[in-house]
Amino acid sequence: MGPNRTQVAIIGAGPSGLLLGQLLHKAGIDNVILERRSGQYVLSRIRAGVLEQTTADLLDEAGVSARMHREGLLHDGIELSFGGARHRIDLRALTGGKQVVIYGQTEVTHDLMDARSAFGGATIYEADDVVPHDFDSNTPFVTYRREGIAHELRCDFIAGCDGYHGIARASVPEESLKTYERVYPFGWFGILCEGPPSSDELIYARHDRGFALISTRSANVQRMYFQCDPKDSVDNWSDDRIWAELHARVDSHDGQHVKDGKIFQKNIVGMRSFVSATMQHGRLFLAGDAAHIVPPTGAKGMNLAVADVRLLTKALNAFYVENRSDLLERYSETALKRIWRAEHFSYWMTSMMHRIEGASPFEQQLQVAELEYVTTSRSAATVMAENYVGVAVPQD
Ligand code: PHB
Repeated sequence: MGPNRTQVAIIGAGPSGLLLGQLLHKAGIDNVILERRSGQYVLSRIRAGVLEQTTADLLDEAGVSARMHREGLLHDGIELSFGGARHRIDLRALTGGKQVVIYGQTEVTHDLMDARSAFGGATIYEADDVVPHDFDSNTPFVTYRREGIAHELRCDFIAGCDGYHGIARASVPEESLKTYERVYPFGWFGILCEGPPSSDELIYARHDRGFALISTRSANVQRMYFQCDPKDSVDNWSDDRIWAELHARVDSHDGQHVKDGKIFQKNIVGMRSFVSATMQHGRLFLAGDAAHIVPPTGAKGMNLAVADVRLLTKALNAFYVENRSDLLERYSETALKRIWRAEHFSYWMTSMMHRIEGASPFEQQLQVAELEYVTTSRSAATVMAENYVGVAVPQD
């Protein structure tokens, strides 16, 4: 039997839902998380791994950062590869000392789950048919079924942290929803492999064959991607074919090359940009992928989710502690400023680095000209660096 009343009902136990639950708990606000999948399934989802400093700071505040500090890798720069050579963007020097932390989203989720079980927070996994109700009133509730039995969870607020395909945004009346979308005609083929890092820093490569990215997870586990047809199948790609493609796109004239490893995971992801400008309706609030998607090129996805959660926690806290609802009322408006900045950055990085089918030779030269500019002008490099480490957006 799950609880039948809480202050905040959270739909979704990914990083957004779990972090919101953790921060609300710290603020003394009771919450229950409902998740359609099992905990094991949630942990099997492989996602990106670059944390902005402000994201790492919020994990500190939430008290879930001990392992991130031990195992996360601090990076001071990134490499852009094009025309057969590599060019370094010195993130730290260009942003007054800011860095990023390489630490997988799966690990963040793991740490948040551990913290939640440590304080005994209620998470209902394998909750079927989760539906939010009456969120345009002051007495919303969520219904769900668990092992065939119907349940009702009454609450003050509902937080939709259930991703792009979730029920939360889909429950907002159509006439109130304002959304923006762009779907890209390419995807990323991702691998995880056992082996040494190919480079001290991430390599973003533009090549006539298509984009590639060399990332890492640890001294022994590497994450790499290459642009592919989103409708392609991992079964068409033998390990040898994958390595040949990565070498062709990333190895450079100066002798640097990708280091092969033992591939143990392959997946293909599509690429989309999406914004729901409606991030709240009555007492339903959306956070993370439920409200916005960025293509992974700018490494912004989880950072944006965490920024939403920071704002929502602050607004809910103001409501419960100071009896103020103005922050809740302005939640969408405030969150969207950061979201649109990140949407633009992710779109820009994606457009500059990918092979665009049907692009004219003129357009291809423009991509190269832009990369030349970013890697030779300090002002242009600063634009990239400050967006990559996370732009400070004025917020209340
Ligand atoms: C990753 O390590 O998975 C990763 C890193 C940087 C990106 C996207 C994904 O831009």
